[in-house]
Amino acid sequence: MDHFVYRDGQLYAEDVPVAEIAAAVGTPFYVYSSATLVRHYRLFDEALSWGPHLVCYAMKAASNQAILRTLAAEGAGMDVVSGGEYARARAAGVPGERIVFSGVGKTRAEVRAALEGGIRQFNVESEPEMRVISEVASAMGVVAPITIRVNPDVDARTHAKIATGKSENKFGIPIARAREVYAEAAALPGLKVVGIDVHIGSQLTQLEPFEQAYLKVADLTEVLRADGHEITRLDLGGGLGIPYTRSNEAPPLPSDYGALIQRTLGHLGCEVEIEPGRLIIGNAGLLVSEVIYLKHGEGRDFLILDAAMNDLIRPAMYDAHHEIVPVKEAEAAAELHPHDIVGPVCETGDTFAKGRLMPPLDSGDLVAFRSAGAYGAVMASEYNSRPLVPEVLVKGDQFAVIRARPSFDDMINRDTIPEWL
Ligand code: LLP
Repeated sequence: MDHFVYRDGQLYAEDVPVAEIAAAVGTPFYVYSSATLVRHYRLFDEALSWGPHLVCYAMKAASNQAILRTLAAEGAGMDVVSGGEYARARAAGVPGERIVFSGVGKTRAEVRAALEGGIRQFNVESEPEMRVISEVASAMGVVAPITIRVNPDVDARTHAKIATGKSENKFGIPIARAREVYAEAAALPGLKVVGIDVHIGSQLTQLEPFEQAYLKVADLTEVLRADGHEITRLDLGGGLGIPYTRSNEAPPLPSDYGALIQRTLGHLGCEVEIEPGRLIIGNAGLLVSEVIYLKHGEGRDFLILDAAMNDLIRPAMYDAHHEIVPVKEAEAAAELHPHDIVGPVCETGDTFAKGRLMPPLDSGDLVAFRSAGAYGAVMASEYNSRPLVPEVLVKGDQFAVIRARPSFDDMINRDTIPEWL
């Protein structure tokens, strides 16, 4: 459920007409609904209310300070994967004890910064990384809390580029070697093992892969405890999918997911952490764009938008489907014809949809990409020297620009000229 609905003939973001934001900030832009974002966070929080837990928002999905602050005010933790994300989480007022650090390539500098600023735990991805964390913590005279990410060799049944839980993926240590690696962790100075971490992929639309992985984690918890390790915390990753099309079957609800966690792991008495990103922010965001031209090609009609692959890369990168709807409701109700919906970037890959049924639209009409909140703005680039698009946050009848569009000068002035030129 989201808060982008047609009212009085036009699309609203909560109580603000999308067209009003477009008039104020220009297109393209991302707009997020605070109410949707908070609602989704609370669904997860409630789904785990049967036991001690922390919902750590995977901020890679969308990391604007205003979004982080909105979630932090709800009590959310953060899952970070870089020094930059750690700094963003801290700048948004998230205390270190609510930040978990994931990612396969944490550098010494990142480990040091997190230990200095405070960290709930590092989710260790390999033995070399574990040794580095041990060295850095020991040199600083502190103890780093860690979980070890295990790779359960489970097929997440999602797009290959976002599946992470198969043995051929770069993530975690093979679950079969977990005892050995935990034994080394226990022997290393500067580390305190607190639990187990697992994350099998993103945009999962079924619960079975989670179940398979979590049952393996349950067994491993017992085995590691028998080996003498204190396993008090289970980080179960993110990955619950969202509906991208109106027609496809709705993925499981956070409540079903929470019940699955309780059923598979609840008896262990551990504190549970989850790292959802997409489900919290995905359907809380739109990318709004203006039609530049309607071009009649050879047997095809092209709708050329002012948004492009640099603003929303998901269709080009993962063949992802985003619903694209007109902002005026009358257009939404008109007779539909197939269109190729493209951006102005000079690549054929700059195609958002092929043969998509759309009402008659023309220059100046606004369209909105639904479900664009997650992995949208954060994956944008300035390819073709197109400035990053602004981000806007709506709350009730108010809206605010939470990241402004850079000017061409801002863009150009980031380059520096060597003295020999
Ligand atoms: N935790 C870890 C360790 C992760 O690697 C990820 C996502 C998450 C949590 C959050 O997963 P979510 O709940 O958002 O599914 N750019 C791709 C998605 C990449 C996901 C990477 N890892 C896309 O646009 O579909």
